[in-house]
Amino acid sequence: MSPVFVAIDTPDVAAATALRQSVGPHVGGIKLGLEFFLANGVEGVNQVVGEGVPLFLDLKLHDIPNTVAGAVRSLGRLEHAPAFLTIHAQGGRAMIEAAVAARDAVVPGLKLLAVTVLTSLDDVDLADIGVSSGSLDQVKRLAYLSVDSGADGCVCSPKEVAALRDMLGSEAALMVPGIRPTGASAGDQKRVMTPRDAMDAGASHLVIGRPITR
Ligand code: C5P
Repeated sequence: MSPVFVAIDTPDVAAATALRQSVGPHVGGIKLGLEFFLANGVEGVNQVVGEGVPLFLDLKLHDIPNTVAGAVRSLGRLEHAPAFLTIHAQGGRAMIEAAVAARDAVVPGLKLLAVTVLTSLDDVDLADIGVSSGSLDQVKRLAYLSVDSGADGCVCSPKEVAALRDMLGSEAALMVPGIRPTGASAGDQKRVMTPRDAMDAGASHLVIGRPITR
């Protein structure tokens, strides 16, 4: 099974469906995020995702435990259960455990991936919100908390994948964006790795958007 999930970043059902049809047979799955989900909801996801194309639903849930549990249960309305869903590690242990319990009850095959520190935040931004330890320490702290609370793994940048694989062991899922083949344009990604290097560093899955969709 290919480790590649193709990021389909569009609010348009027809465009997303066309991409899924053309790339679906060649990759491990597709990723739909907030842009698509808020425009089209569960119905839109049902239209795009066919049988046999695993879905990574990147909704980055972050709320009180009861609300996050309810959101996870609502995924039971999807015709095909997603393979992966993101939650924010900063929601804390009780929120992560509530997501895990709801998953176990309604969509048992779903793997929960925790987002630790958004890669758009640097150490200055973290200091502004009261985190003084620097980004790598904070990423490791939140990744440990997530997996210890029952999450199946993390989304992390190429910069962090080796450290997280080392800390979390071989079972954890590590979904890595910021992937560019040798010679491809980095676009707005600042820190990139080739697919080979990311896998060698310990990624279990790769999120690749524009190098495939454009
Ligand atoms: O087109 P590209 O390969 O850069 O797409 C990467 C995908 O991964 C996009 O959907 C982007 O939002 C997502 N992503 C990212 N960096 C993160 C988290 C998610 O690029 N830290």
